[in-house]
This record gives sequence, C-alpha cells and structure tokens, in this order.
Amino acid sequence: MGLVPTMGALHEGHTSLIRKAHSENATVLVSIFVNPRQFNDSSDFEAYPRDEAADVRVCGAAGANLVFIPSVEEIYPDGFQTTVRVGALTEPLEGAARPGHFEGVTTVVAILLTLAGAERAYFGQKDAQQLLVIRRMAGDLGIATKIVACPIVREPDGLAMSSRNMRLTAAQRAAAPILRRALSAARARYDAGERDAEVLRASMRITLSAEPLVAPEYVSCADPDTLRELERVAGPALLSMAVRFGAVRLIDNEPLP
Ligand code: PAJ
Repeated sequence: MGLVPTMGALHEGHTSLIRKAHSENATVLVSIFVNPRQFNDSSDFEAYPRDEAADVRVCGAAGANLVFIPSVEEIYPDGFQTTVRVGALTEPLEGAARPGHFEGVTTVVAILLTLAGAERAYFGQKDAQQLLVIRRMAGDLGIATKIVACPIVREPDGLAMSSRNMRLTAAQRAAAPILRRALSAARARYDAGERDAEVLRASMRITLSAEPLVAPEYVSCADPDTLRELERVAGPALLSMAVRFGAVRLIDNEPLP
C-alpha cells in the first residue's frame, strides 16, 4: 500500500503524488484531513478550502483506491495527549515563522503512518522542510514506511501549485510568479559561479523587492540536510523563501545544484 496524506482542496501537485503512488503500489490510500493542530492561526484553519465531493472524484481519477476522511474527533479523541516533536530541524524557516506548526504536522503524520501501515508514503518537495522533518521522525521512531519525495508541480507561469493560490486576488495572482523568478535569479548567480550564500540570498531579496504586492518573510540559502544557513555554498544547498501577499502566505524552494 502507498499512502498520500493531504489536507484536501486537491490540485495537480497532489495528483502527481497519487499517480506516483499508483505506479508503485497495488493499493493507494489518500487521507484528507485538515489538521487543526498544524495551523497556528485559527482563521487560517477556518479559511482553509474544503470540497470533499470534488476531492474524492479527483482521487479516483488519479488512481486512488481508498480515501480516508476522518473527523477531528476520530484523530484526536477525548483524552488525546501525545505530541510528536522533532528537534533542531524544526527550528529555522517555517518552524521559526509558524510556532507549533511542525508539532502539529509530525503528530498527525505519525498517527496516519501508524494507522495505514503502508509500505510507502508520498510527500512533495514543495514543502521541503516538512519532508525532511517527516523523514527524520519516521527514522527516529522506527516507522517502517518508506518516505518518498516527489518534485514540485508548477503552473505554466512558474507559480508552485498550492491550495492557497485560489485565495489570491487577480493582481496578486499575476504577481505571484515573482517567487519562482527570485529563485531563478539566485540560481543564475550560482550557475555563473557565485558561491557566497549571502549574495544568493540578496539576489532573491532584490528580485522580490521589485514587486510592491509582496512582503517577504524570509529568504534562505541553507544546508539541505540540516537547514542551517550557509555562508558559502561548497556542496548541495536549498534555496527557499516564504512571502505574504496580503493575508495569503506562499512558500517555494529550489535545490542547488
Ligand atoms: P497539503 O498541503 O494538502 O499537501 C499534501 C502533500 O502534497 C504534501 O506532501 C505537499 O508537499 C504536496 N504538495 C502540495 N503542493 C504541491 C506541489 N505544487 N507540487 C508537489 N507536491 C505538492 O502538506 C500537507 O498537506 C500537510 O502538512 C500533511 C502532510 C497532509 C499533514 O497534515
């Protein structure tokens, strides 16, 4: 069995995971659960898009055999009091910007992995830190499920697919490919031989600063295993960023080389 954990509002990013799971497993289980514990902002949780009927159709079309849509009470019954917390990997980047977020993610993913008992579970590179944290957790806890990484799926203009994109205004949506352009600007510097990580971060900041609708939260050029910020890029690295368009928060990343 292959497990694809999601929060619903499924788009082509999700279906790429389901299709990959379908190609590697006899049975594919998709879970749809908007996990209240990973939202540090309750209005973000309330605003999270939900369309169960459409999601179930999308799952079937992409090759899923089973869809698990538990209630909050099924996952966190009365008396629930366990939290799964991963250490240093959860501290920078998304962890710093969203206190408690990763505890919510690792707690629910530990439950889902344990319930499903799947051979493989599929996660997107779009949430690069989440993927690293889940790998670490599964390894540390001796969870036998193999964690499979899947590439970022993008719109034709380069915007990484996300259920949050539908909350952008037309003007914000038109400006949103700036994330990808900022990553590409840093990559171009890297390809031209630049290895000073601060110069790469600055090139992302400069690209973002040209767009008045965007408020950058962080830009990063980090070690891809520890997520510590680099001074020099001597091996593989992860470029990443989080920005806000009004109330909508978007993230994107790109590995180097
Ligand atoms: P959600 O945001 O619904 O994403 C479910 C999975 O789809 C994640 O592994 C995510 O990385 C992947 N994904 C989303 N957009 C993608 C894209 N454009 N390209 C490739 N993969 C993409 O991430 C979560 O839910 C939750 O935190 C979850 C792991 C389900 C725990 O609640």
